[in-house]
Amino acid sequence: MKMNVMLALVACAALSIPVEAQTAAGAPRLQKQGAATQLTVDGKPFMCLAGELTGDAATSLPMMEPIWPKIIAGNLNTVLVAMSWAQFEPEEGKFNHVQVDGVIAKARENNLHIIFLWFGSWKNGTSSYAPYWVKKDYVRFPRIQIGDGKTVSVSGPIELLSTFGDATRDADAAAFGAFMRHIKEVDGVQHTVVMMQVENEVGVLRDSRDRSPAANRAFAGQVPAELMNYLAAHKDALIPEFREVWAANGHKSSGSWEEVFGPGKPADVEIPIQTQSPPMSAYEHETSWRELHWPSDEIFMAWNYARYVEKVVQAGKAGYAIPMYVNAWLQQPNHAWPGTYPCGGPLPQVHDVWRAGAPDVDILAPDLYVPYFDEVCERFSRNGNPLFIPETSTNAANAIMAVGKYNTIGFSPFGIDGGRPMPADLAATYRMLSQMAPMILAHQGTDTATAVRMVQGEPPKQVKLGNYILTFRYTGRIRGLPPQARWGVEAPSYGGAPQPAEPPLEAGAVMITTGPDEYYFGGGGMRVDFAPNTPGPSNVGLGDVQEGRFVDGKWEVTRQLAGDDDAQGEILVLHPATILRVTLYRYP
Ligand code: DGJ
Repeated sequence: MKMNVMLALVACAALSIPVEAQTAAGAPRLQKQGAATQLTVDGKPFMCLAGELTGDAATSLPMMEPIWPKIIAGNLNTVLVAMSWAQFEPEEGKFNHVQVDGVIAKARENNLHIIFLWFGSWKNGTSSYAPYWVKKDYVRFPRIQIGDGKTVSVSGPIELLSTFGDATRDADAAAFGAFMRHIKEVDGVQHTVVMMQVENEVGVLRDSRDRSPAANRAFAGQVPAELMNYLAAHKDALIPEFREVWAANGHKSSGSWEEVFGPGKPADVEIPIQTQSPPMSAYEHETSWRELHWPSDEIFMAWNYARYVEKVVQAGKAGYAIPMYVNAWLQQPNHAWPGTYPCGGPLPQVHDVWRAGAPDVDILAPDLYVPYFDEVCERFSRNGNPLFIPETSTNAANAIMAVGKYNTIGFSPFGIDGGRPMPADLAATYRMLSQMAPMILAHQGTDTATAVRMVQGEPPKQVKLGNYILTFRYTGRIRGLPPQARWGVEAPSYGGAPQPAEPPLEAGAVMITTGPDEYYFGGGGMRVDFAPNTPGPSNVGLGDVQEGRFVDGKWEVTRQLAGDDDAQGEILVLHPATILRVTLYRYP
């Protein structure tokens, strides 16, 4: 009875806390932990094991019905769902909440979190998700122009709203502000919605910059003082590719865009769909996608997109301030020159420009489809940019590397409702990572956790973690010990022999040291040998080897392994999507 009274009092006290205060207390936000930046929801770090739906999936709630079970079967905890400006504001000033409310309700029913993608003025550079009332008023809402005032290039029409349209920016910002106010009203306490993507893959296509009269005037004018001051204040910490361009033009503190950052695209170069012009050698194909070409065009557009997006973000955060990010269509080997990818987006070489122009954007995120996953993670983690991967492929080893090594806030393959549904190995990896998430999050950003990727045929890799040096060898996706491992023989190496035609299989494992002689491993397809990293006896033995799972964050042993399962205590094999706890000891 006494207990009931107490509970009632506590409930009343909770009810008497104004919604404003409850919202602020647990609202999603970003928080530093060591070298990592984490997303916290309801005051606790949260790892988004996510997937993105195709762009139009949520335009019809009935059509979404068969998608929810797929999401659950894939062991996702977060779904990225597009919401278009067109559908939210079909008539100017009249807002439609049906889709947003419907998605939030179904997410709650399925115990999922949501990240909404605001398809406002731009999606993949172009403007096909702007409302009809915006599209048809090309005077109030101007489009970019290319070449000498055209809207059609050799490769097609350019229906792309210009950043030099204050009315467009203000209308987009007003709609996004209304969207975020509504999210706060319906979700300010429950926190189903954990982040927002603002616009989608912005940038100019089919030319390297906007050449409308307003854009040309701005391009001929001075680089704004806000940008120059930011560069001066951050001179020693600028992204190297960017700093080189500024230095090559004499580190000027003022001037026109071309005076400060060098030449833009020569007038006679036409932009094709893919980079064929200028023609590329094999070397250029390998290197050009990492460089800043026609720098003043790229920097000018990055600044103008950043300023525009900043206004939209500010309006959104005035409604409800949760973390917001922008995503980049990456420069890549076949799309290396500006205009073959959207020029001016948040690419790594212009992160400083985005930071200066859009300080309220929390994360600059890669849509990471190129086969240089680790390199791109590193390039997007420079200067404290928190890593979030909103679009990528379904590679399970990448998911493990992202959370274990690169401290990502979330990993999200694209198209999980349709074209590229979740494969079984990623679903199993998500199940494993969701169990390990509290432990991984507690160690992220410190030197007690990391991850390793092994590709078939590559030589052994060493990692120093805690008191031991761990040597990894690829074993593949097999369940039991490979015969070579049983007899202490190396896994097959291809040496000088022809490589297999199939792309090499990849294995990934996350590892955490939780005590002087204790490790947890998640995932695998590799074996690990231990050597001491501290003075003392030189041999290392396997003590307890346990296969198990985490239930509500607590370790439960499902199998104790010895004998045939660890080669009589000599070899530890990590199996895909499996969690092991291992203790070690030393002997002379
Ligand atoms: C990247 C875009 O951001 C997505 O919306 C989608 O169009 C994919 N490309 C398709 O691969």
